[in-house]
Amino acid sequence: MIEKNFIFNLNTKDTGASGSVTWQSPSNIALIKYWGKTDPQIPKNVSISFTLSNCNTQTTVKYRPKSSISEDFDFKIFFDQKENQSFRRKIEQFFERVVPYIPFIRNYEFEIHTGNSFPHSSGIASSASGMSALALCLMSIQKSMDPHLSEIDFNQKASFLARLGSGSAARSIEGPLVVWGQHHSIFKSSNLYGTKYSGEIHDVFTSFQDTILLVDKGEKKVSSTLGHKLMLGHPFAESRFEQAKDNMNRLIAILKNGELDSFIDIIEREALSLHAMMMTSDPYFILMKPNTLEIINRIWNFRELSGCHICFTLDAGANVHVLYPDKDKKAVRDFIDKELVQFCQNGQFIHDNVGNGAKLL
Ligand code: PMV
Repeated sequence: MIEKNFIFNLNTKDTGASGSVTWQSPSNIALIKYWGKTDPQIPKNVSISFTLSNCNTQTTVKYRPKSSISEDFDFKIFFDQKENQSFRRKIEQFFERVVPYIPFIRNYEFEIHTGNSFPHSSGIASSASGMSALALCLMSIQKSMDPHLSEIDFNQKASFLARLGSGSAARSIEGPLVVWGQHHSIFKSSNLYGTKYSGEIHDVFTSFQDTILLVDKGEKKVSSTLGHKLMLGHPFAESRFEQAKDNMNRLIAILKNGELDSFIDIIEREALSLHAMMMTSDPYFILMKPNTLEIINRIWNFRELSGCHICFTLDAGANVHVLYPDKDKKAVRDFIDKELVQFCQNGQFIHDNVGNGAKLL
Protein backbone atom coordinates (compact mmCIF):
# COMPACT_ATOMS: atom_id res chain seq x y z
CA MET A 1 0.00 0.00 0.00
CA ILE A 2 1.36 3.45 -0.86
CA GLU A 3 0.20 6.87 0.30
CA LYS A 4 -1.84 7.80 -2.76
CA ASN A 5 -4.01 4.68 -2.35
CA PHE A 6 -5.46 6.27 0.77
CA ILE A 7 -6.94 9.25 -1.07
CA PHE A 8 -10.72 9.17 -0.96
CA ASN A 9 -12.36 10.51 -4.09
CA LEU A 10 -14.91 12.93 -2.75
CA ASN A 11 -16.67 14.08 -5.89
CA THR A 12 -18.24 10.78 -6.72
CA LYS A 13 -19.37 9.88 -3.24
CA ASP A 14 -20.00 12.75 -0.83
CA THR A 15 -23.62 12.35 0.27
CA GLY A 16 -23.82 15.66 2.11
CA ALA A 17 -25.65 14.08 5.05
CA SER A 18 -25.48 15.10 8.71
CA GLY A 19 -24.82 12.68 11.53
CA SER A 20 -22.98 11.74 14.67
CA VAL A 21 -20.52 8.96 15.42
CA THR A 22 -18.77 7.79 18.61
CA TRP A 23 -15.66 5.65 19.02
CA GLN A 24 -13.87 4.43 22.13
CA SER A 25 -10.20 3.91 21.43
CA PRO A 26 -7.54 2.50 23.75
CA SER A 27 -4.09 3.61 24.75
CA ASN A 28 -1.19 1.24 24.08
CA ILE A 29 2.15 0.43 25.68
CA ALA A 30 5.12 -0.23 23.44
CA LEU A 31 7.24 -3.32 24.04
CA ILE A 32 9.71 -2.39 21.28
CA LYS A 33 9.92 1.40 21.35
CA TYR A 34 9.59 3.92 18.56
CA TRP A 35 11.96 6.85 19.09
CA GLY A 36 13.11 8.79 16.04
CA LYS A 37 11.13 9.67 12.92
CA THR A 38 11.27 11.53 9.63
CA ASP A 39 8.51 13.54 7.94
CA PRO A 40 5.61 12.78 7.65
CA GLN A 41 5.63 10.66 10.82
CA ILE A 42 7.71 7.85 9.35
CA PRO A 43 9.35 5.80 12.11
CA LYS A 44 13.08 5.09 12.03
CA ASN A 45 12.50 1.62 13.47
CA VAL A 46 9.83 -1.02 13.94
CA SER A 47 7.76 -0.94 17.14
CA ILE A 48 5.21 -3.28 18.70
CA SER A 49 2.76 -2.66 21.52
CA PHE A 50 0.18 -4.26 23.73
CA THR A 51 -3.16 -2.60 23.15
CA LEU A 52 -4.63 -1.60 26.50
CA SER A 53 -8.22 -1.78 27.61
CA ASN A 54 -9.18 0.44 30.56
CA CYS A 55 -7.16 3.51 29.53
CA ASN A 56 -9.10 4.88 26.60
CA THR A 57 -10.56 7.97 24.98
CA GLN A 58 -14.18 8.30 23.96
CA THR A 59 -14.83 10.72 21.11
CA THR A 60 -18.06 11.79 19.45
CA VAL A 61 -17.98 13.72 16.20
CA LYS A 62 -21.16 15.49 15.11
CA TYR A 63 -21.04 16.64 11.51
CA ARG A 64 -23.17 18.54 9.06
CA PRO A 65 -22.52 20.20 5.67
CA LYS A 66 -21.22 23.78 5.93
CA SER A 67 -23.82 26.43 5.20
CA SER A 68 -21.40 28.31 2.94
CA ILE A 69 -18.36 27.08 1.07
CA SER A 70 -14.98 27.93 2.60
CA GLU A 71 -11.48 26.48 2.67
CA ASP A 72 -11.17 26.78 6.45
CA PHE A 73 -11.66 23.86 8.78
CA ASP A 74 -14.82 24.48 10.73
CA PHE A 75 -14.89 22.74 14.09
CA LYS A 76 -15.42 23.14 17.81
CA ILE A 77 -13.64 20.92 20.29
CA PHE A 78 -15.00 20.06 23.75
CA PHE A 79 -12.92 18.19 26.34
CA ASP A 80 -14.89 16.85 29.33
CA GLN A 81 -17.89 18.92 28.14
CA LYS A 82 -15.97 22.20 28.10
CA GLU A 83 -14.83 23.96 24.97
CA ASN A 84 -11.06 23.53 24.86
CA GLN A 85 -8.82 26.02 23.06
CA SER A 86 -5.55 24.27 23.86
CA PHE A 87 -6.52 21.24 21.74
CA ARG A 88 -7.57 23.46 18.82
CA ARG A 89 -4.12 23.89 17.31
CA LYS A 90 -3.43 20.15 17.52
CA ILE A 91 -6.68 19.27 15.74
CA GLU A 92 -6.10 21.94 13.12
CA GLN A 93 -2.64 20.55 12.40
CA PHE A 94 -4.13 17.05 12.25
CA PHE A 95 -6.82 18.21 9.78
CA GLU A 96 -4.14 19.85 7.62
CA ARG A 97 -2.22 16.59 7.49
CA VAL A 98 -5.18 14.33 6.76
CA VAL A 99 -7.19 16.53 4.36
CA PRO A 100 -5.42 15.18 1.23
CA TYR A 101 -6.81 11.73 2.14
CA ILE A 102 -10.29 12.75 3.35
CA PRO A 103 -10.97 15.98 1.41
CA PHE A 104 -14.64 15.99 2.48
CA ILE A 105 -13.61 17.46 5.87
CA ARG A 106 -13.44 20.89 4.18
CA ASN A 107 -17.14 20.66 3.33
CA TYR A 108 -18.41 19.96 6.84
CA GLU A 109 -18.65 21.63 10.19
CA PHE A 110 -17.78 19.46 13.16
CA GLU A 111 -18.44 19.40 16.87
CA ILE A 112 -15.92 17.13 18.57
CA HIS A 113 -16.63 15.92 22.11
CA THR A 114 -13.85 13.98 23.77
CA GLY A 115 -12.88 12.65 27.20
CA ASN A 116 -10.47 10.14 28.71
CA SER A 117 -11.17 7.25 31.09
CA PHE A 118 -7.97 8.11 32.98
CA PRO A 119 -7.47 11.23 35.08
CA HIS A 120 -6.57 14.37 33.17
CA SER A 121 -2.89 15.36 33.43
CA SER A 122 -2.00 11.99 34.92
CA GLY A 123 1.10 11.93 32.77
CA ILE A 124 -0.49 9.16 30.69
CA ALA A 125 -0.10 10.09 27.06
CA SER A 126 -3.57 10.61 25.66
CA SER A 127 -2.34 11.30 22.12
CA ALA A 128 -2.47 7.63 21.05
CA SER A 129 -6.04 7.02 22.24
CA GLY A 130 -7.19 10.56 21.36
CA MET A 131 -5.86 10.69 17.82
CA SER A 132 -6.97 7.14 17.01
CA ALA A 133 -10.50 7.83 18.31
CA LEU A 134 -10.76 10.94 16.13
CA ALA A 135 -9.31 9.13 13.08
CA LEU A 136 -11.88 6.34 13.55
CA CYS A 137 -14.75 8.85 13.72
CA LEU A 138 -13.58 10.46 10.47
CA MET A 139 -13.32 7.03 8.88
CA SER A 140 -16.90 6.25 9.94
CA ILE A 141 -17.96 9.42 8.11
CA GLN A 142 -16.05 8.25 5.03
CA LYS A 143 -17.74 4.85 5.36
CA SER A 144 -21.17 6.48 5.45
CA MET A 145 -20.30 7.81 1.97
CA ASP A 146 -18.63 4.60 0.86
CA PRO A 147 -20.52 1.68 2.49
CA HIS A 148 -18.54 -0.97 0.61
CA LEU A 149 -15.28 -0.11 2.38
CA SER A 150 -14.05 -3.40 3.90
CA GLU A 151 -13.13 -3.73 7.59
CA ILE A 152 -9.48 -4.33 6.67
CA ASP A 153 -9.30 -1.18 4.53
CA PHE A 154 -11.20 0.79 7.17
CA ASN A 155 -8.78 -0.17 9.95
CA GLN A 156 -5.73 0.33 7.77
CA LYS A 157 -6.74 3.82 6.76
CA ALA A 158 -7.84 4.70 10.33
CA SER A 159 -4.35 3.74 11.49
CA PHE A 160 -2.78 5.66 8.59
CA LEU A 161 -4.71 8.82 9.55
CA ALA A 162 -4.09 8.33 13.29
CA ARG A 163 -0.34 8.07 12.59
CA LEU A 164 -0.41 11.52 11.03
CA GLY A 165 -1.76 12.86 14.34
CA SER A 166 0.61 10.97 16.64
CA GLY A 167 2.96 8.14 15.67
CA SER A 168 2.01 5.75 18.45
CA ALA A 169 -1.71 6.32 17.68
CA ALA A 170 -1.19 4.12 14.61
CA ARG A 171 -1.02 1.19 17.06
CA SER A 172 -4.31 1.94 18.86
CA ILE A 173 -6.90 0.64 16.39
CA GLU A 174 -6.71 -3.11 16.93
CA GLY A 175 -5.29 -5.59 19.48
CA PRO A 176 -3.91 -7.48 21.30
CA LEU A 177 -0.53 -6.72 19.69
CA VAL A 178 0.11 -4.19 16.93
CA VAL A 179 3.24 -3.62 14.85
CA TRP A 180 4.10 -0.35 13.21
CA GLY A 181 7.16 0.11 11.04
CA GLN A 182 8.60 -2.12 8.36
CA HIS A 183 10.33 -5.30 9.49
CA HIS A 184 11.61 -7.98 7.16
CA SER A 185 10.22 -10.85 9.29
CA ILE A 186 6.72 -9.42 9.72
CA PHE A 187 4.39 -9.95 6.84
CA LYS A 188 2.68 -6.76 5.62
CA SER A 189 4.35 -4.55 8.24
CA SER A 190 4.42 -0.93 7.08
CA ASN A 191 5.81 2.46 8.01
CA LEU A 192 2.50 4.03 6.99
CA TYR A 193 0.11 2.26 9.38
CA GLY A 194 -0.04 -0.24 12.20
CA THR A 195 -1.08 -3.83 11.59
CA LYS A 196 -2.44 -6.37 14.01
CA TYR A 197 0.48 -8.71 14.76
CA SER A 198 -0.16 -11.74 12.57
CA GLY A 199 2.45 -14.11 14.02
CA GLU A 200 1.61 -16.85 16.50
CA ILE A 201 0.83 -15.50 20.00
CA HIS A 202 1.17 -17.69 23.10
CA ASP A 203 -1.91 -17.59 25.38
CA VAL A 204 0.07 -16.00 28.21
CA PHE A 205 0.29 -12.75 26.27
CA THR A 206 -3.40 -12.34 25.50
CA SER A 207 -4.25 -11.79 29.16
CA PHE A 208 -1.16 -9.85 30.21
CA GLN A 209 -1.63 -7.25 32.94
CA ASP A 210 -0.29 -3.70 33.05
CA THR A 211 -0.51 -1.62 36.22
CA ILE A 212 0.41 1.98 35.50
CA LEU A 213 2.03 3.70 38.45
CA LEU A 214 1.55 7.46 38.26
CA VAL A 215 4.87 8.72 39.53
CA ASP A 216 4.81 12.22 38.17
CA LYS A 217 1.78 13.96 36.76
CA GLY A 218 3.48 17.21 35.83
CA GLU A 219 4.03 18.56 32.34
CA LYS A 220 7.03 16.90 30.69
CA LYS A 221 10.13 19.10 30.39
CA VAL A 222 10.87 17.75 26.91
CA SER A 223 8.07 16.78 24.54
CA SER A 224 8.10 13.55 22.51
CA THR A 225 8.16 15.67 19.36
CA LEU A 226 11.48 17.20 20.38
CA GLY A 227 12.80 13.86 21.68
CA HIS A 228 12.13 12.21 18.29
CA LYS A 229 13.93 15.07 16.53
CA LEU A 230 16.98 14.68 18.75
CA MET A 231 17.45 11.18 17.33
CA LEU A 232 18.42 12.73 14.01
CA GLY A 233 22.17 13.19 14.33
CA HIS A 234 22.27 11.32 17.66
CA PRO A 235 25.65 9.58 18.01
CA PHE A 236 24.02 6.23 18.93
CA ALA A 237 21.02 6.44 16.60
CA GLU A 238 22.04 3.83 14.05
CA SER A 239 22.94 1.25 16.72
CA ARG A 240 19.65 1.95 18.46
CA PHE A 241 17.63 1.37 15.27
CA GLU A 242 19.56 -1.89 14.69
CA GLN A 243 18.95 -2.93 18.30
CA ALA A 244 15.19 -2.42 17.92
CA LYS A 245 15.23 -4.56 14.76
CA ASP A 246 17.16 -7.36 16.52
CA ASN A 247 14.93 -7.17 19.59
CA MET A 248 11.91 -7.52 17.30
CA ASN A 249 13.42 -10.68 15.83
CA ARG A 250 13.93 -12.12 19.30
CA LEU A 251 10.45 -11.08 20.40
CA ILE A 252 8.79 -12.87 17.47
CA ALA A 253 10.10 -16.20 18.81
CA ILE A 254 9.14 -15.33 22.40
CA LEU A 255 5.60 -14.28 21.49
CA LYS A 256 5.21 -17.76 20.05
CA ASN A 257 6.87 -19.87 22.78
CA GLY A 258 5.75 -17.81 25.81
CA GLU A 259 9.22 -17.83 27.36
CA LEU A 260 8.83 -15.17 30.04
CA ASP A 261 12.43 -14.74 31.27
CA SER A 262 13.52 -13.75 27.77
CA PHE A 263 10.42 -11.57 27.39
CA ILE A 264 11.38 -9.66 30.55
CA ASP A 265 14.94 -9.21 29.32
CA ILE A 266 13.82 -7.59 26.07
CA ILE A 267 11.10 -5.43 27.60
CA GLU A 268 13.33 -3.89 30.26
CA ARG A 269 16.25 -3.51 27.84
CA GLU A 270 13.96 -1.59 25.46
CA ALA A 271 12.70 0.73 28.20
CA LEU A 272 16.20 1.52 29.41
CA SER A 273 17.55 1.94 25.87
CA LEU A 274 14.80 4.48 25.17
CA HIS A 275 15.79 6.50 28.23
CA ALA A 276 19.49 6.04 27.47
CA MET A 277 18.84 7.77 24.14
CA MET A 278 17.31 10.71 26.00
CA MET A 279 20.22 10.87 28.41
CA THR A 280 22.76 10.95 25.57
CA SER A 281 21.08 13.30 23.08
CA ASP A 282 22.14 16.90 22.52
CA PRO A 283 20.75 18.53 24.58
CA TYR A 284 20.48 15.62 27.05
CA PHE A 285 17.57 15.21 29.42
CA ILE A 286 16.18 12.81 32.02
CA LEU A 287 12.48 12.06 32.31
CA MET A 288 12.77 9.45 35.06
CA LYS A 289 12.33 10.65 38.65
CA PRO A 290 13.89 9.26 41.83
CA ASN A 291 10.69 7.29 42.48
CA THR A 292 10.90 5.73 39.01
CA LEU A 293 14.28 4.23 39.99
CA GLU A 294 13.06 3.24 43.44
CA ILE A 295 10.17 1.33 41.85
CA ILE A 296 12.47 -0.38 39.33
CA ASN A 297 14.79 -1.57 42.09
CA ARG A 298 11.89 -2.85 44.17
CA ILE A 299 10.52 -4.74 41.14
CA TRP A 300 13.90 -6.39 40.63
CA ASN A 301 14.13 -7.42 44.31
CA PHE A 302 10.59 -8.74 44.35
CA ARG A 303 11.16 -10.70 41.14
CA GLU A 304 14.20 -12.40 42.61
CA LEU A 305 12.47 -13.27 45.89
CA SER A 306 9.06 -14.29 44.54
CA GLY A 307 9.88 -15.87 41.19
CA CYS A 308 6.95 -13.92 39.69
CA HIS A 309 7.35 -12.87 36.07
CA ILE A 310 7.02 -9.19 36.77
CA CYS A 311 8.87 -6.51 34.80
CA PHE A 312 8.67 -2.82 34.04
CA THR A 313 8.52 -0.65 30.99
CA LEU A 314 8.50 3.11 30.54
CA ASP A 315 7.23 5.46 27.90
CA ALA A 316 8.48 9.01 27.46
CA GLY A 317 7.89 10.01 31.08
CA ALA A 318 8.43 9.10 34.72
CA ASN A 319 5.45 6.75 35.12
CA VAL A 320 6.14 3.04 35.38
CA HIS A 321 4.15 0.36 33.58
CA VAL A 322 4.33 -2.84 35.62
CA LEU A 323 3.78 -5.83 33.32
CA TYR A 324 2.94 -9.33 34.58
CA PRO A 325 1.09 -12.44 33.45
CA ASP A 326 -2.41 -13.14 34.72
CA LYS A 327 -1.14 -16.13 36.77
CA ASP A 328 0.88 -13.74 38.98
CA LYS A 329 -1.91 -11.18 39.35
CA LYS A 330 -2.67 -11.72 43.02
CA ALA A 331 0.95 -11.81 44.22
CA VAL A 332 1.96 -8.79 42.12
CA ARG A 333 -1.03 -6.70 43.11
CA ASP A 334 -0.35 -7.40 46.81
CA PHE A 335 3.25 -6.33 46.23
CA ILE A 336 2.13 -3.16 44.43
CA ASP A 337 -0.22 -2.27 47.31
CA LYS A 338 2.37 -2.97 49.97
CA GLU A 339 5.52 -1.59 48.38
CA LEU A 340 4.98 0.49 45.27
CA VAL A 341 1.91 2.66 45.84
CA GLN A 342 3.90 4.80 48.32
CA PHE A 343 6.03 6.02 45.39
CA CYS A 344 3.05 7.15 43.28
CA GLN A 345 1.93 10.76 43.27
CA ASN A 346 -1.12 10.92 45.56
CA GLY A 347 -1.02 7.10 45.65
CA GLN A 348 -2.50 6.95 42.15
CA PHE A 349 -2.26 3.92 39.85
CA ILE A 350 -4.40 2.23 37.20
CA HIS A 351 -4.86 -1.51 36.70
CA ASP A 352 -5.13 -2.29 33.01
CA ASN A 353 -4.75 -5.34 30.80
CA VAL A 354 -4.25 -6.28 27.18
CA GLY A 355 -7.28 -5.42 25.04
CA ASN A 356 -8.62 -6.05 21.57
CA GLY A 357 -8.83 -2.58 20.15
CA ALA A 358 -11.22 0.28 19.50
CA LYS A 359 -15.02 0.00 19.66
CA LEU A 360 -17.74 1.78 17.75
CA LEU A 361 -20.34 2.87 20.33
O1 PMV B 1 3.56 8.85 19.53
P1 PMV B 1 4.58 9.78 20.06
O2 PMV B 1 5.11 10.68 19.02
O3 PMV B 1 4.10 10.49 21.29
O4 PMV B 1 5.85 8.93 20.55
C1 PMV B 1 5.76 7.98 21.56
C2 PMV B 1 7.02 7.29 21.78
C3 PMV B 1 7.09 6.32 22.94
O5 PMV B 1 5.91 6.29 23.69
C4 PMV B 1 8.22 6.74 23.87
C5 PMV B 1 7.42 4.92 22.44
C6 PMV B 1 6.33 4.23 21.70
O6 PMV B 1 6.67 3.47 20.78
O7 PMV B 1 5.15 4.37 22.06
